[in-house]
Amino acid sequence: MAGEQRLAVVGAGLMGAALARLFAAAGWVVRVSDPDQAALDRLDAQAAAGRISGHRVLAEAVAAADLVIEAAPEKPALKQQLFVQLAALTPASCILATNSSVIPVATVSASVDDANAQRIVGTHFWNPPELIPLVEVIQGPRTALKTIETTLAMLRGVGKHAVHVRRDVVPGNRLQHALWREAMALVDEGVCSPEDVDAIIRNSFGLRLAVLGPLENADLVGLELTADIHKVVLPQLSRATEPSAGLMERLARGDRGVSNGAGFYSGWTEAKVAALRARLVAHVRRLLQER
Ligand SMILES: NC(=O)c1ccc[n+]([C@@H]2O[C@H](COP(=O)([O-])OP(=O)(O)OC[C@H]3O[C@@H](n4cnc5c(N)ncnc54)[C@H](O)[C@@H]3O)[C@@H](O)[C@H]2O)c1
Repeated sequence: MAGEQRLAVVGAGLMGAALARLFAAAGWVVRVSDPDQAALDRLDAQAAAGRISGHRVLAEAVAAADLVIEAAPEKPALKQQLFVQLAALTPASCILATNSSVIPVATVSASVDDANAQRIVGTHFWNPPELIPLVEVIQGPRTALKTIETTLAMLRGVGKHAVHVRRDVVPGNRLQHALWREAMALVDEGVCSPEDVDAIIRNSFGLRLAVLGPLENADLVGLELTADIHKVVLPQLSRATEPSAGLMERLARGDRGVSNGAGFYSGWTEAKVAALRARLVAHVRRLLQER
């Protein structure tokens, strides 16, 4: 139909399928490409009112798209090769976005010429993207400002809180993993058990993070006190540039987290994981309703 906006999603996995549902619910026509027939079959089972279709052939999915979001596995070489194909298979007006968690826009667009690199941008959604409002719109070194503006408008049009990130980094992951690095360092140093580290966060500043960001918080307590605290505490923080020893030891003995029952915690069962996920979604929904 004329006037309808068209999205193509590359990869029908966890994020790709959810992105397809998000845009379809906002009225977009969505085509999803995946070489894995089983992933496409799972997608068909959820297709919203005929607005989503699955395709084994990439060209078929992307040929008429206004926006392509790549949600293939987090492998730099695979993404690089996909963007070469996408640049050749899509109209020059089409925006090419990567949902990569940490691979820079510069890396995924490394094998693409300047004209096409101008229309490549990062769109970092958070899982589950139908629920979590934020999308970081990441400007690579060759991304055109027009691409950023159009992407921000498209995402705001489907109800997302889209922010412009002016350098080729994913700030949300930097912030999140700064905390994870410190949490793992505290366990490695024997300061607290994993359970107690999580309890400290959940029962203190974790409670306020959804309504009070750290920079607002710094203003609230005063910048002088903040500086005094930093003078003492910053030298104590982990500066590790490699994954923590405890994390690597757990992996070496085969503990991979919920997928095989043990990680920082032990005794994970499918029922426990399902209950935790349900509690998490209910909690976020409640917070968003109260805003
Ligand atoms: N899972 C998360 O919480 C999350 C959050 C934000 C960003 N991301 C990023 O989103 C991307 C996808 O993550 P996911 O969790 O959905 O992964 P996933 O493994 O669930 O899905 C990836 C899909 O891509 C398909 N695929 C493989 N090769 C392909 C190709 N050449 N063309 C098209 N599809 C191909 C696979 O068959 C699979 O269905 C990754 O870059 C990831 O880092 C994930």
